[in-house]
Amino acid sequence: MDSRTNTGELSEAEIAARVEAILSKLSLAEKVGQLTQIGGLAFLPGPKPEEIIRQGGAGSVLWVNDTKTFNALQKIAVEESPSRIPLLFGLDVIHGYRTIFPVPLAMAASWDPSVVERAQAVAAKEARAAGIHWTFGPMVDIARDARWGRIVEGAGEDPYLGAAIAAAQVRGFQGPYIGAPDHVVACAKHFAGYGAADGGRDYDPVYLPETLLRNVYLPPFKAAVDAGVGTFMSAYMDLNDVPASGNRFLLRQVLREEWGFKGFVVSDAFAVGSLVTQGFARDGRDAAFRALSAGVNMDMASNTYLQHLAGLVEDGTLTVEDIDEAVRPILAIKVRMGLFEHPYTDESKLEQVVALPEHRAEARRAAQRSMVLLRNEGGLLPLSKSLKHVAVIGPLADSQEATEGSWMVFGHTPNAVTVLEGIRAKLPEARVDYAPGPEIRRDIPSWFEANMDPTAKKAPQSPEAAEAAFQTAVATARDAEVVVMVLGETADMAGEAASRASLDLPGRQEELLQAVVALGKPVVLVLLNGRPLSINWAAENVPAILEAWEPGSEGGHAVADVLFGDVNPGGKLPVTFPRKGSHEPLYYARNLTHSPEGHPMYNPRYWDGLPTPLYPFGFGLSYTTFAITNLQVSAPQVKIGDAVTVTADVTNTGAVEGDEVVQLYIHQKAGSDSRPMRELKGFERVTLKPGETRTVTFTLGPAELGHWSTNAGKWVQDAATFDIWVGADSRATLHAELTVVC
Ligand code: GLC
Repeated sequence: MDSRTNTGELSEAEIAARVEAILSKLSLAEKVGQLTQIGGLAFLPGPKPEEIIRQGGAGSVLWVNDTKTFNALQKIAVEESPSRIPLLFGLDVIHGYRTIFPVPLAMAASWDPSVVERAQAVAAKEARAAGIHWTFGPMVDIARDARWGRIVEGAGEDPYLGAAIAAAQVRGFQGPYIGAPDHVVACAKHFAGYGAADGGRDYDPVYLPETLLRNVYLPPFKAAVDAGVGTFMSAYMDLNDVPASGNRFLLRQVLREEWGFKGFVVSDAFAVGSLVTQGFARDGRDAAFRALSAGVNMDMASNTYLQHLAGLVEDGTLTVEDIDEAVRPILAIKVRMGLFEHPYTDESKLEQVVALPEHRAEARRAAQRSMVLLRNEGGLLPLSKSLKHVAVIGPLADSQEATEGSWMVFGHTPNAVTVLEGIRAKLPEARVDYAPGPEIRRDIPSWFEANMDPTAKKAPQSPEAAEAAFQTAVATARDAEVVVMVLGETADMAGEAASRASLDLPGRQEELLQAVVALGKPVVLVLLNGRPLSINWAAENVPAILEAWEPGSEGGHAVADVLFGDVNPGGKLPVTFPRKGSHEPLYYARNLTHSPEGHPMYNPRYWDGLPTPLYPFGFGLSYTTFAITNLQVSAPQVKIGDAVTVTADVTNTGAVEGDEVVQLYIHQKAGSDSRPMRELKGFERVTLKPGETRTVTFTLGPAELGHWSTNAGKWVQDAATFDIWVGADSRATLHAELTVVC
């Protein structure tokens, strides 16, 4: 780890010495307190945080988001608790604190790690100014099934793109070193395999063979470690029958022994106590023993460590050294963060920081670069700014919540510019009518809504009111020159506890879309959503479709920037869009099998409809066109362990400046194991003026050409022949070959 800290240069030895000095003065109870993170939610049972802190029973607090409260709790810890050790305040700052950025899945669609790094740096600056030291992000779970609600929080289906985004998030949150001013400690979560639950059913058990773990689900976590992430969060679910929060293979063998991780692991919320619920631990005592033994340093909110660890030491089941080993990295993070010297937060700082104009400018730019143009028949887009009468229709068109999206910071008040507001600002002289149409809502409210969101208790719209709203929306569209439909999902339809079986547009949105299209005027569909949607009808019948995701505080302006041509969209899909939810999991990096597409024995896999993607991984259009040519490989043959350079030329063959994301895919044609027909192993987003050509360069070496082998039970690089493709999405056709020899 870097020797720089919040209070200046400290060598590893000096940090270790400081930690030992602190540790040597702690009682067993005080050490257990450092391993305990308590929840600040009012409805949680048991003693209040103030009491637990005063008695030295907590080293960290979460689910508090108020600077005055942070300082009040810190004062108790620093001035009244037996150890006087300051608290570490953690919170989910996933895509912005007060300035909200596009959801992580959207920012992954930019295929621009610098966008992600800059966004998380702004989020960190605002969060740190509020008094937050530690964010529970980045979420780096690979998701190949869009029915899983938490797909919104990650970077999609691909480990190579996911690893690049994970590293960028860690850099953004933490800055150049842990303790850097205006930055926070990051937390790679949820370790590991959480996104692979059957059917996308959140929290359900996961079964992953080691080859999938090693080649697909672990690389983004490894990238986070390599980027210097300070903490990890162990996941809830059973992984191959062993809960991730009691899983020695993950937490000790992989994370510490193989990867050399020196930070600390916090469990997911209540996950230590849940080891009993999952049928893994006999009781709380057993849960505490097995979680700590497996490598969970800090118990988030279940208070299981607080209740049982001291007893486990006193009866000899655990040793004091077991406890000390868990406490050390937590104290080291507090030393690096300078909490002993600066435990309190200036209560005037937050409002100064969140008012910085560059924050909203960064949010607008991130949203612009995240958008993906899915269709533009007849060049309907960009729209003319001389339009006199536009209708904006749909339940999300003026929704701040839907524009900011899933995983808002606890206690946040939405502040987004909506799509309607963005269009009205872009066309100040035009008539811009609006009608929401029928409301959309989840069939089953989530636990969070029922317990934490008063608006969820609002009575559903009656069928009569919905029908009236439907007719009003169609009537509003009837006389407009152009109709912009803003459809998709509400913020609570994706995220935690937000899985769904279908990927269709919820409610009567598709019906409304069809009724508006039937009016025979130009229609643009803008999607606000946190996951792929099976918009099959729209894909055939709506001339222009813009995937805007959940674009954040400046989302409305960014959508208008793209719709009216001030910005040429250049995003690409980080995840496959299937034609049906029941086709999931559907991902591009599949093995060939004995019956691949194009083979005489090809079997269409379902007789009730081909599961071909609606939109493939890496896909996205532009207002201009590009040509990718002249694929060159520096050598047709290379020895195992050596690298080759791959180059290709990309030309803007259209009339306006635009971005292209040049992608490189490989396929190992034979070897220790069958390998996916395509795997992303390089990408670069370039901006080109009309007629301009750029040569992009990639490197293929052991890291890209090797894989974890089921057959060999370890990482291997085979002597083998590889297909290489370079193009604008996962269907790239520009091809070359490379032979790797012993
Ligand atoms: C939640 C989530 C996790 C989050 C934690 C604290 O249940 O699974 O992502 O960081 O609890 O809010």
